[in-house]
Amino acid sequence: MQHAIEVRGLTKAFGNVRALDGVDLTAPAGSVLGVLGPNGAGKTTAVRVLSTLTVPDGGTARVLGLDVVAQAGEVRHRIGLTGQYAGLDHDLTGEQNLVLLARMLGASRAQAKARAAELLERFDLVHAASRAAGKYSGGMRRRLDLAASIVRRPEVLFLDEPTTGLDPKSRNGLWDVVRDLVAEGTTVLLTTQYLEEADQLADSIAVIDAGRVIASGAPTELKQMVGGLVLRMRPVRPEAMTQLADLANWTIGARAKLEEGEAIVPVAHAGEATAVMSRVTQAGIDLVSFGLDEPTLDEVFLTLTGHRAESATEEEVTA
Ligand SMILES: Nc1ncnc2c1ncn2[C@@H]1O[C@H](COP(=O)(O)OP(=O)(O)O)[C@@H](O)[C@H]1O
Ligand SMILES: [Mg+2]
Repeated sequence: MQHAIEVRGLTKAFGNVRALDGVDLTAPAGSVLGVLGPNGAGKTTAVRVLSTLTVPDGGTARVLGLDVVAQAGEVRHRIGLTGQYAGLDHDLTGEQNLVLLARMLGASRAQAKARAAELLERFDLVHAASRAAGKYSGGMRRRLDLAASIVRRPEVLFLDEPTTGLDPKSRNGLWDVVRDLVAEGTTVLLTTQYLEEADQLADSIAVIDAGRVIASGAPTELKQMVGGLVLRMRPVRPEAMTQLADLANWTIGARAKLEEGEAIVPVAHAGEATAVMSRVTQAGIDLVSFGLDEPTLDEVFLTLTGHRAESATEEEVTA
């Protein structure tokens, strides 16, 4: 079957900066491809090329089998993109904006009103439906913009960091919308800096850094790449944390990470976890809880790139 998105060897430079340095991406129809990477990785450039807004220097990109350069017009008709075509009118109300867009896309007056109402409800904007879009808060404008990008259900939807800056409620709302669209058959390419978001939504993930795909696969495959498991132990007395770390080191030579009241010990297999737990019991250290987990995607990214995916905030830098 033809892939909805097929990218081979894509390159794009801005002066000396290789924004895309030979990127390959594939997304089967009806799937969610998560493009995960830190600031400056090349995510927006990739989305701009795929949505025909930027011409690449080299390589090929096909969306729904169409070449994004040679068949740009046709591609544009069949995709949705957040924040680009929407062109919200700030003097019109939220509802008027959505109705107008639906009308422009060929809906009847009744269909347009119904679709607008559905989207306002979906994005929690009913209370602001008759307020001018220009008066919306940042988060509300973002939601309206997302609603605008799906007025006509696109075959392929590009979401470039759709939840950056959204509060958790709006973020969860957006995730539900994405899941609904995918259930209806839309293919989604979503860029994100949030590992949890990729884990939640994506069928496959391409991790990009400095214009290159450094790893790709299903979320579980990426986690397995790092290998092993993590043993988490939360002692009753926080002072016992260092003792837990010492025991882990002594028993299996592991270096524990102490984080928010938990000692997190990388283990190669369950047997090592049992060995550590048995020492902990012998030493009489009481635990509130313990457990064996897969590594998080954050740990995956750190292992792959040597740095964290989310750009450090000032607190993290100074901490
Ligand atoms: N129009 C542009 N002119 C010059 N440099 C650009 C332009 N767009 C992107 N870049 C550079 O290309 C690199 C990738 O940028 P971008 O695709 O926006 O990354 P991301 O979306 O992952 O943060 C960055 O180094 C950025 O500064
Ligand atoms: Mg970007």
